Amino acid sequence: MDEIFNIKNLQFSENDLDFIQLNDLANEMISPGHIVVRSRVNGKPFIILRAGDFIDDYFIEKYATAGISSFYQLKIVNRDQEEKIKYKISELMSNKINEWERNNRNVEFLKEVQKFFKNSQESQYSVLNLLRAMNAKYNCIPLNIFEKNSTISSLIYQRNLMISTLMVIFGTLLGISDLKLLKDLYNLGQLLDISLLKSGYNTFIEEALKLSYHQSKDALVYLKKNKVHPEVYRTFFYHPVKSYQLATQFVHHFNYPEVLELIKFHHEELDGTGFPQGISYQELGHIDQITHLCQQLVPYEEIIFSHHQEKNPFHAIEERLSILKKANPNSMFFKLAEKKWKWFLELTIPKEGITLDQAPTNNPLALGKINP
Ligand SMILES: [Fe+2]
Repeated sequence: MDEIFNIKNLQFSENDLDFIQLNDLANEMISPGHIVVRSRVNGKPFIILRAGDFIDDYFIEKYATAGISSFYQLKIVNRDQEEKIKYKISELMSNKINEWERNNRNVEFLKEVQKFFKNSQESQYSVLNLLRAMNAKYNCIPLNIFEKNSTISSLIYQRNLMISTLMVIFGTLLGISDLKLLKDLYNLGQLLDISLLKSGYNTFIEEALKLSYHQSKDALVYLKKNKVHPEVYRTFFYHPVKSYQLATQFVHHFNYPEVLELIKFHHEELDGTGFPQGISYQELGHIDQITHLCQQLVPYEEIIFSHHQEKNPFHAIEERLSILKKANPNSMFFKLAEKKWKWFLELTIPKEGITLDQAPTNNPLALGKINP
């Protein structure tokens, strides 16, 4: 019988390992599997790169210099599924289709995406396929930002990949049909916390970030309780504004520069308890709320790329949506988001497509109403 290895909660046998060449890895951006080397002494495997990690030049050079040109791979990605998603997105991106056809293709795209949420326990529907496919089709942000993210904070790197993907999904579900705008929303997801990615990043900021994903005020309470240095507090408190300022250097990658303004509001709360401005949702537009919603829905990173997903990582989405709706009974937005998510999961997307009476404006010029 094959020996069973158990490393970092991953159980696998010899048979689960495939060969992968260094050259093939160098062509990837997001690692398609756990990359493994075997001890020359006893054959024991070591994971040197996790599935989903960013493959940077340093990694490639290090092994190329050492003369190592192939590894073992504990495969996570299913190329067929990944290609299917990419194909559906390419179909959407065609300029030669009318609105009716685009609606149909939107539904087809959502149906394909839905499989990753409903069947994620099946290995071919690992969420990593979806994240890689979306990144390949929508990303315009320079790779060094991903490299910086992953080097300084794997939490931010992995969450951003998820947030960006959810931005496209929820954007589509909530009635945005302008693909240029959806693309902008994807890219926006990568820049939300960009100002935190510097040498001052520390465990207090990381912990505050985790807390802020669910309740902005919890993060501030945590930082005060731990009496962090005023500079750390300020860095965290003003990071939405600072990140916006830094993100403007990427404005030429955006179809609608106004979209960048959303970064300023990603930690504001419905009831005005968010930061840095403490403004309430009533003052925010629909698309601002999508940004905030998506960052509140993403589960923590460790469960995202696991080999055998014991729990569908997106169950957290359902739970969070229901909590948000209950906590904000008067919010039309949360009601709508929950309703659309249920439709999405049950594939009872209405025949008329995704247009709703309450659908948000598609006019990005309606963004940035707030001028702090
Ligand atoms: Fe943030």
